[in-house]
Amino acid sequence: MTTYHSEPHDFSDKSAGYERLAAQLRGLLAGEPDLIANAANTAALIFDALPEVSWAGFYFLRGGELIVGPFQGKPACVRIAIGHGVCGTAAARRETILVPDVNAFPGHIACDSASQSEVVVPLIAAGRLIGVLDLDSARLARFDELDARGLERLAALFVEASWTEGLG
Ligand code: SME
Repeated sequence: MTTYHSEPHDFSDKSAGYERLAAQLRGLLAGEPDLIANAANTAALIFDALPEVSWAGFYFLRGGELIVGPFQGKPACVRIAIGHGVCGTAAARRETILVPDVNAFPGHIACDSASQSEVVVPLIAAGRLIGVLDLDSARLARFDELDARGLERLAALFVEASWTEGLG
């Protein structure tokens, strides 16, 4: 990878912001197929770039449940059953879930009591669910449809660069 330089990220135009972030992520992952290394760098890039994010990281599907992977933020719940919480619901439905107020989401799993809003993007490789990308914020309604689309793009770049045979 090339040396990463943290730049002031301007998300006043979210589409343009995610466009630049996608280009940065592509550069960061170029030529590196290791899943854990790439998950760590993807989480770090997202956490560094996006304003008002308190947690950004991965849960991977292992042994039929979601297990926490590389992330940035406070220590988190380790295991989440499919269908439970926002992460397990996004995994079960295989669709991105935007939660403007986590207190209003039945079954939300509170790893950090400061978290107020959340977005979870499922990771699909060759038609199979392999995990989720999860972001939290301490601000209500921090994430909108533009964030969802932007993060889906980043998640797809991560999967494309990193998923071969799995965690081994
Ligand atoms: N809030 C999530 C749990 C994971 S943490 O936010 C890192 C959920 O309800 O699935």
